[in-house]
Amino acid sequence: MKNFLTTADFSRAELEEIIEAALQFKSGKIADKPLAGKSIALVFFNPSLRTRASMQVGIYELGGNAVILEPGNSSWTLEHRENVVMDSDKTEHLKEFVRVLERYVSAIGVRTFANLKNWEEERLEPILSVFEKFASKPIVNLESAMHHPCQALADMLTIREKFGKRKKKVLLTWAWHPKPLPMAVPNSFALATAQFGHDLRIAHPKGYELDGELMREIEKQAAEAGGSLEIVNNVNNAFDNVEVVYAKSWGSSQFYGAAEKDIEFRADLRNDWIVDEAKMERTNDAIFMHCLPVRRNVIVTDGVIDSANSVVADEAENRLHVQKAILAKLIK
Ligand code: CP
Repeated sequence: MKNFLTTADFSRAELEEIIEAALQFKSGKIADKPLAGKSIALVFFNPSLRTRASMQVGIYELGGNAVILEPGNSSWTLEHRENVVMDSDKTEHLKEFVRVLERYVSAIGVRTFANLKNWEEERLEPILSVFEKFASKPIVNLESAMHHPCQALADMLTIREKFGKRKKKVLLTWAWHPKPLPMAVPNSFALATAQFGHDLRIAHPKGYELDGELMREIEKQAAEAGGSLEIVNNVNNAFDNVEVVYAKSWGSSQFYGAAEKDIEFRADLRNDWIVDEAKMERTNDAIFMHCLPVRRNVIVTDGVIDSANSVVADEAENRLHVQKAILAKLIK
């Protein structure tokens, strides 16, 4: 295990090992300090609460030291493109940043969201791929344009804790939001749900399809793991009999780079595409999941997120345990 960039790079057995180790960290059965005397860099191109706090605490609990860098704020502005004459606003090239940083640390975590400008470029992970190419130390994806694998494994751990190993009927539902958001969370949640063999239903309005190549991978993984995949465009029927509801908003790839057009297109979807009590009534007493941050009474009503079936804080806590398991595995 060199890097942790997407769960697609790992077999079901390897992912199960991480979940098992996370459970042991959570229960206190493992108190190893594999990072004693080591430093881990955490590079944040974007804001964060959960990822930053849980990584920093996790590194501390594993005996290590977290070095947090925010390019453009607490460190120099970075250029990532090849063969650029750097006579504009960028001070340092990402190649030097990576090559230098890795001399100090044992691994590098990177958060670099999609810019929501050019889908064909961003789906190829223009910044994360430079870290991957120029670092000899392990790279951990802390949310990139395409994936948020630490979140997805924390979500799988949360489902495991609530239901055990039995496969569940899982709904990933798009929700209305005032502006387009990146697709990393729904991508990684759908992928991991398929890898863990659950029956996955994805509900979204027409025009909000996830990446085609990724969907083929999800379909393949679901078939291999004994699960299933269903896509629906009717928001109400989508909730029928499911045991897990995962809400997330994302932007339309057909309007990628044209936020105003997406906002206009989605205007009529606001009233229907919210997770509310009436929709949760149609489920089989489903748990409610969201990666957070979430806009209350936009994505989900107060009644649902404050209900006993809401596990959003468990998901956030499980980030800590899963990431400790990942770091311990990467840095042996
Ligand atoms: N879910 C998640 O990654 O939260 P942050 O953006 O606060 O890190």
